[in-house]
Amino acid sequence: MIQTIKQTVKALVLNHFQLDNLNVVVEEPKRGTTDLAIPLFALVKQLGKPMPVVLEEVKTALSQYEMITDIQFLNGFLNLSINRGVFASKVIDRITEEQASFGNQSVGKTVCIDYSAPNIAKSFSIGHLRSTMIGNALKNIYTKLGYRVVGINHLGDWGTQFGKMIVAYQKWGNRADIEKNPITELQKLYVKFHEEVERDPSLDDQARAVFKALEDGNPEMLALWQYFREESLKEFMSMYELLGVSFDSYDGESFYNDKMEAVAKTLEEQGLLVEDDGAMIVKLDPLPPALIKRRDGATLYITRDLAALLYRFNHYHFDKVLYVVGNEQKLHFDQLKGVSKLMGYDLDIHHVNFGLVMQDGKKMSTRGGRVVKLYDVIKEAIESASNAIVEKNPNLKNRDEVAKAIGIGAVIFNDLKNDRNLDIEFNLESMLAFEGQTGPYLQYSSVRIASILKNQVLSKNYPVNSYTEDLPFELIKQLAAFEDAVQKAAEVNGPHVISRYLLQLSQLFNQFYGQYKIITEDEALKQANLHLIQAVRIVLNEGMRLLGMIALDEM
Ligand code: ARG
Repeated sequence: MIQTIKQTVKALVLNHFQLDNLNVVVEEPKRGTTDLAIPLFALVKQLGKPMPVVLEEVKTALSQYEMITDIQFLNGFLNLSINRGVFASKVIDRITEEQASFGNQSVGKTVCIDYSAPNIAKSFSIGHLRSTMIGNALKNIYTKLGYRVVGINHLGDWGTQFGKMIVAYQKWGNRADIEKNPITELQKLYVKFHEEVERDPSLDDQARAVFKALEDGNPEMLALWQYFREESLKEFMSMYELLGVSFDSYDGESFYNDKMEAVAKTLEEQGLLVEDDGAMIVKLDPLPPALIKRRDGATLYITRDLAALLYRFNHYHFDKVLYVVGNEQKLHFDQLKGVSKLMGYDLDIHHVNFGLVMQDGKKMSTRGGRVVKLYDVIKEAIESASNAIVEKNPNLKNRDEVAKAIGIGAVIFNDLKNDRNLDIEFNLESMLAFEGQTGPYLQYSSVRIASILKNQVLSKNYPVNSYTEDLPFELIKQLAAFEDAVQKAAEVNGPHVISRYLLQLSQLFNQFYGQYKIITEDEALKQANLHLIQAVRIVLNEGMRLLGMIALDEM
């Protein structure tokens, strides 16, 4: 909203002087008492007119603009004051009118977001959880901006490991166990395969033959693979359900099985595919070459990603594609970009990477010695939230629902509150605190507003001039900045921009709540206050929704 005012000021000044190449800068000073400022000396120089004349002319240019009340010359700047009352009513009305999406500059644009992507028959790792939460937030953010978003779960459901899985299953597997605990059991089989192969190296050859049969479409092998995939997916689905996350496509790596040959052929025709010790590679100097086919003809992770990229481009006609995957796959995505460029594509590809999850100073792992399942960790967060509610609000009716929203919200916010490149600390106690930079703090701010509004009737009209004091004006400005925050979040693919924004909004609101009497005897003023805090709640709730959190009425 402030951006719009800046643009309008600029346009009015330009329009007034009617001069080509005139460079008018409108700033929003971080400090000081002015709302907007125009550096005057540069303008004076460009116009070749004396300063007082320029000052008067700018005043004239802006005289019809209701949003600007006062123009002063100070320290080389024209300082402009925003008409706080007019501004406030515009901001509040816009928020309460509630628009489904912002602006329309992104209408007609498509973004593909590749996120979560766990591997079949392997546990859902903490890295997959980060990818899921970041990707889901980005999906909401881009949708809010008017994009068509295609959320893709590029499941790791293909590759030589399935040869091993099938061999292990045929030798030692048990259906009933798998159905009870799919991923745990399948993982056990995989581990057993690796133990046994030490003793009997021929197992490796068997596995290779089985994978070959699978790639060639052998029905028996396909049926087994399908079975592993379905059982694993069931387990992943319970995680997605818990988190409230969904996808538009579950086309994983296997989906590209019949689409890789065409890519290899194109690479060959373009003269990009070269042989290297029996394998087929694409040279990418100065990067290491991309291995497209192994010596035995087997395809690789990057071969499938390349086929996926081109398929998505031809099928969804994306303008932009995001891969929400950890830092450790940087080279892979650099190579993917590199190969597509050599093929003549000019695609807007972003590797949306992220840092590690730390626990007690060490990298958190759900594998290895600690067999804690992520699902159980999240359940634990919900339970702690439930216990806190019993203590604070024992009479709450829908406690389970609320506990779930708080527990999951806490985990999500903990992940999204800082720049995604940073490592995050996973500590249930601190992320569940009701004070500080936490999910519950945001939810609590919104609940506090709900409880104030509960028995109040909001009138249609309210006096906007009550918002002229500094603190309410700060709050209004913060409300007005929501749209910019969402834009910015998409620009840097960083949900944290919204998290930081919401924390600031909550802090300002809580300050306002501490210093002002909201339910006053003065009916007009009371109405103004109610409209203001209602707008705060709308924005808080919408912001939380974008992050993937659930807002509450009570907690
Ligand atoms: N399944 C992969 C993993 O767990 C992540 C896949 C990411 N997406 C992609 N298009 N490569 O490491």
